[in-house]
Amino acid sequence: MQAEILVLPGDGIGPEVTAAAVAVLRDVGARHGHEFTFTEKLIGGAAIDATGEPLPADTLAAAKKADAVLLGAVGGPKWSDPKAKVRPEQGLLAIRKALGLYANLRPVKPHPVAFAASPIKPHLLQGVDLIVVRELTGGVYFGDKQRTAGPNGECTASDLCSYSVGEIERVIRRACRLAMQRSQRVTSVDKANVLETSRLWREVATRVVHDEFPEITLEHQLVDSMAMHLLARPREYDVIVTENMFGDILTDEASMLAGSMGLLPSASLGEGRVGLYEPIHGSAPDIAGRGIANPYAAILSAAMLLRHSLGLDAEAQCVERAVSAALSAGHLTADLAKPESAIGTREATAAVMDHFPLPCQVPELRD
Ligand code: NAD
Ligand code: IPM
Ligand code: MN
Repeated sequence: MQAEILVLPGDGIGPEVTAAAVAVLRDVGARHGHEFTFTEKLIGGAAIDATGEPLPADTLAAAKKADAVLLGAVGGPKWSDPKAKVRPEQGLLAIRKALGLYANLRPVKPHPVAFAASPIKPHLLQGVDLIVVRELTGGVYFGDKQRTAGPNGECTASDLCSYSVGEIERVIRRACRLAMQRSQRVTSVDKANVLETSRLWREVATRVVHDEFPEITLEHQLVDSMAMHLLARPREYDVIVTENMFGDILTDEASMLAGSMGLLPSASLGEGRVGLYEPIHGSAPDIAGRGIANPYAAILSAAMLLRHSLGLDAEAQCVERAVSAALSAGHLTADLAKPESAIGTREATAAVMDHFPLPCQVPELRD
């Protein structure tokens, strides 16, 4: 098949890990006779430096035309002044919103080789296989933001958190459809004991599951205790659905089940076919430019791109199996390995390509 993939490297380790994911996509495309074309555009701090805007119009136009978008990360100390007028992160939020990508899928399946890198005991990690469906275009991230001066001149800041019924329904449905292909269990996470948006969330989740997905067992969990249960009994969860900010926080926490931020991929999806694929980690300014970032999260995001935007499930599985095999063979970057045995981003990427499973190398076996 032919596909146009827009690559947005962004900032910090973004360019390093997207280069790795593109190399793997090129390789898998060649092995299977697909014609993938790659176009690069600016986003984030790099775009601010070049154009003054975190999401230039031609980047968004290219994203709308592409079959899929692969993103590295945005942000960094250079653009982090709290008084800055434009911020790299605005570019990321704007592209998610403009493409209508309301569901962010973040799978977490710890690999035994990385158990040692996790602060959680191995017996709790065995068999963990969960996926967080994070609402991505609503909530406090997108509500009205203000600073006002009170009567005595004291400054007050506010961020409005709002959700409409429709915004909740569509992401709950997405989580339920996913759960129907898995164990038919959904955990909906909210803070309904305090927040009105959460009370609406809980009401809508209950109704959608009751009316449309009677086979599904729905559990509600308050976000504070969820943060604890996620570490104490992660094996008991399958599909977890939650609002934007709770999902952001819980998935960075969940990355510690996998052993590193450098292992968690994500897919941001809407109603259309074009999706945005990015690791859940950020631009990691502390290690940027040193060639030591873990590329596996970006490569696994490329696998999600193959599956969700291009419909190439077999190819996606090849990539996932190759990453798993590379991990099993001990090809570990510094976030997972002892310093003396750690490999760099390029070596880890090469290891993935060396470990493509056999059917990947014989395209004619596919059909
Ligand atoms: P971060 O995710 O960039 O880094 C947190 C820690 O994890 C750091 O110690 C980093 O070295 C490590 N880490 C992250 N990815 C890694 C990888 N692939 N391999 C090895 N180690 C890795 O979070 P932060 O430091 O809080 O944020 C830095 C910047 O990134 C901020 O400007 C933030 O806004 C931005 N950010 C962007 C995205 C995104 O673009 N999607 C996501 C999160 C944070
Ligand atoms: C993420 C990031 C972003 C978010 C930031 C950079 C805007 O943390 O993708 O998880 O909070 O959504
Ligand atoms: Mn985050």
